[in-house]
Amino acid sequence: MKTYNIPEISEGIYWVGIKDWNRRIFDALIPLPRGTTYNAYLVRGKEKTALIDTVNPGFERELEEKIAQLMGEPPLDYIVMNHAEPDHAGAIPVMMELHKGAQLITTEKGAKMAQTYYNVPAERIRAVKDGDAIELGGKTLKFIEAPFLHWPETMFTYLAEDKILFSCDFFGAHTAFGLYEDEVEDILPLAKRYFGEIMMPFRKMGQKALEKIQDLEIKVIAPSHGPIYKNPEKILEVYRKWTAGETTEKAIIVYVSMWKSTEAMIKTMVETLLAEGIEVSLYNVVNSDIGDIAGDLVDARAIVLGTPTVLGGMHPVAAHAVNLAKALRPPLKYGVVLSSYGWGGGARRQALEVLGPTKIEVIDTLEVNGPPSDEDHKKIVEIGKQLAAKIRG
Ligand code: FEO
Repeated sequence: MKTYNIPEISEGIYWVGIKDWNRRIFDALIPLPRGTTYNAYLVRGKEKTALIDTVNPGFERELEEKIAQLMGEPPLDYIVMNHAEPDHAGAIPVMMELHKGAQLITTEKGAKMAQTYYNVPAERIRAVKDGDAIELGGKTLKFIEAPFLHWPETMFTYLAEDKILFSCDFFGAHTAFGLYEDEVEDILPLAKRYFGEIMMPFRKMGQKALEKIQDLEIKVIAPSHGPIYKNPEKILEVYRKWTAGETTEKAIIVYVSMWKSTEAMIKTMVETLLAEGIEVSLYNVVNSDIGDIAGDLVDARAIVLGTPTVLGGMHPVAAHAVNLAKALRPPLKYGVVLSSYGWGGGARRQALEVLGPTKIEVIDTLEVNGPPSDEDHKKIVEIGKQLAAKIRG
């Protein structure tokens, strides 16, 4: 059996996760330029041992080899399932088979999912509620229900003696680099991008969870993606802002252009906003990474959408970006739609239909026939100035 150099993150607590360097897409949607990790942790008490979360399907053997290297014969007593999504729970069927005496610890909703997704027999599952605990012998695991971070069943596990919070998806980052946060130079941009992709739609639930743990003494945050925080305040501080929906004087501009008319409109808008002192993040959606856009949506105050009309509506790539941005429920306050068409409009109407039910106040729109005229550019400058005034508030 291969020998692993297994990091001991605190006395008797081992990182037994997987670094998936080569994964490049998540949920068939989110690009992973740095791969990701599936962090799992082994907690050894004097009497019992627990595994906190497992790994993505396909890595069961590596996980089991690490556990076997650490433990030899004694099997696991508990497998804690903080979250039922397969990237953390996918190895549960194999683990439950190998460790026949182990009990699965999860929330009540998690118990149903464990039966549905992983065929875990009900008699091997212990459903826990807020404040429930299990004793491993000098190591006490306490459970904190934290629903919708990221599915309805999610919870945190707190190791009382070592003051470690195992938060699963919450506080995560998709990167295979580093074990601790100070080893990943750009950890906050990566965490922000991840927050935009995964947590932003559940901001309110994130706020509730932060309130729940605010009096907890936390020395280490050990999420299930990306590095472990030895300085938890680093991630707690930004999560307080992001879950509160704090925005900055920033506009995100997402556009598609076929024959450069929409692009010419966008260029004028960018120059106007920059001249007004507004930070601008500009994305041509055709060659942009959706994860970067999600990251900028976390704290942008306004969005400018640029799209030509194609077959009576938005360009399909622009429509995809707008639908995705809407689904992520960013805290955007203001919007502008700029559009051009060849012989019949429609993109503006469709964009307004999509943005209508959101909380975004569309302050103005412009739809032009063909390339924008000097008069059109003048109008865009005026719209840009109005938008900047709104953003400055
Ligand atoms: Fe990392 Fe929601 O799974």
